[in-house]
Amino acid sequence: MKKRLLYYVGMSAMSLALMGCKGENATDPEKEPSLTVTQGAQKEGEEVSPTPMVLVEEDTTGTPPAIKDVYQELFSIGVAVGTHDVLQEYKLDVILQQFNSMTCGNEMKADSLLDRRATLESGTEESPVINFSRADIILSFAQEHGIAMRGHTLVWHSQVPRWFFTVKYSDDASAPFVTKEVMLSRMDSYIRQVMEYTNETYPGVIYAWDVVNEAIETGDGHERGLRTKDSLWYQVIGEEYIEKAFEYARAYAAEGQTLFYNDYNEFVLKKRFAIINLVKDLKEKGLIDGIGMQSHLQMSDPSLIDYEETLKKYGELGLEIQVTELDVDALDNSEETQAKLAKRYKQLFYTYKRLKESGEANITNITIWGLSDDGSWLNDETASYPVLFTQLLEAKPAFYGAIMDESIPLY
Ligand code: G3I
Repeated sequence: MKKRLLYYVGMSAMSLALMGCKGENATDPEKEPSLTVTQGAQKEGEEVSPTPMVLVEEDTTGTPPAIKDVYQELFSIGVAVGTHDVLQEYKLDVILQQFNSMTCGNEMKADSLLDRRATLESGTEESPVINFSRADIILSFAQEHGIAMRGHTLVWHSQVPRWFFTVKYSDDASAPFVTKEVMLSRMDSYIRQVMEYTNETYPGVIYAWDVVNEAIETGDGHERGLRTKDSLWYQVIGEEYIEKAFEYARAYAAEGQTLFYNDYNEFVLKKRFAIINLVKDLKEKGLIDGIGMQSHLQMSDPSLIDYEETLKKYGELGLEIQVTELDVDALDNSEETQAKLAKRYKQLFYTYKRLKESGEANITNITIWGLSDDGSWLNDETASYPVLFTQLLEAKPAFYGAIMDESIPLY
């Protein structure tokens, strides 16, 4: 591979050694990376802030490319971020340089927005109170810097508190659920408040909404493949909650905002059938504009053929396709594995480009699910190195794969 890496390094410390890329902070994306100085002005072991930062190019023959520019004629390139990303200068520099779309990793989910204390104080049985303080940090950053955002996510069985479904918003584990009618009112109110607030406060920032997320779970035995067992939305409202969510979202969306159904393992055959049936129905009713293919992938699974076939099948529906949460679970940081990862990213982007250019799939956005390896959700019990930048924000071989650099082999 050509040696052409993009480095963001501290000006004062000559050598910064991570406390292991797999180190103690790797599992907690909320924490700042911990850096230990091994040489230079600071004392050994002293923790330093990674700022101020400078961009250093190893290859003096050219400026490292921005992935957003490489694909500007085809689709926008996004990144999932948290408040910890946009509050750290050295990270926001990379976000601004590389990406033209962002998604909140957690800050726009129901468990982050719903405010139980305020709801008990001033909400009504039909209408909860929402607190935008965490989301505001990211939305105002996007507004200030002119980065478009995907709204993720309005209705999801996960990361929504049980008390949102109970009589008087009780958080007692055995509290009874409200009626279907009350829950529909709460859903309507929630979607209205989230969309109206963001559209009025940050006009033009959000261009697409994941209206319903992960509503298909074919293992649950429902005839249409709907998730039933762990979805309180399904249990309290019944299967019409999906259509209702899209109806409300359509009613409150700003002009030009597109509405998506978003799911994972979207390439598994059974699931693909169920998703296609669901969105066909919504499309006939004029309620949906696109499919979000999350694309949390393994190194060799799905095969490129199956993945491409899925893109084409969704493409045939005439809906927009956005790759909303792309990452590839690479379990170690060895040169060999990372070279394989780079090839995987090159194959994926090659496929996206080809299908967009041929008109087989109207792909409008690709979002990488995490700025750097250390902040990835895949770093939980086991380490993973799944995205395009290292903890020090070095562009990985995977980055060069994603921009389809000639240094990375396609096969
Ligand atoms: O905010 C708390 C923090 O206060 C606490 O100290 C810390 C201790 O563990 O936990 C923090 O919350 C974590 C949160 O991420 C923020 O870091 C949660 O435990 C953790 O479960 C949560 O994980 C998120 C996951 O969704 C939850 O389902 C990931 O960051 C987020 O990337 C991930 O994203 C989802 C998409 O929304 C939908 N598709 C799948 C994708 C990956 O799971």
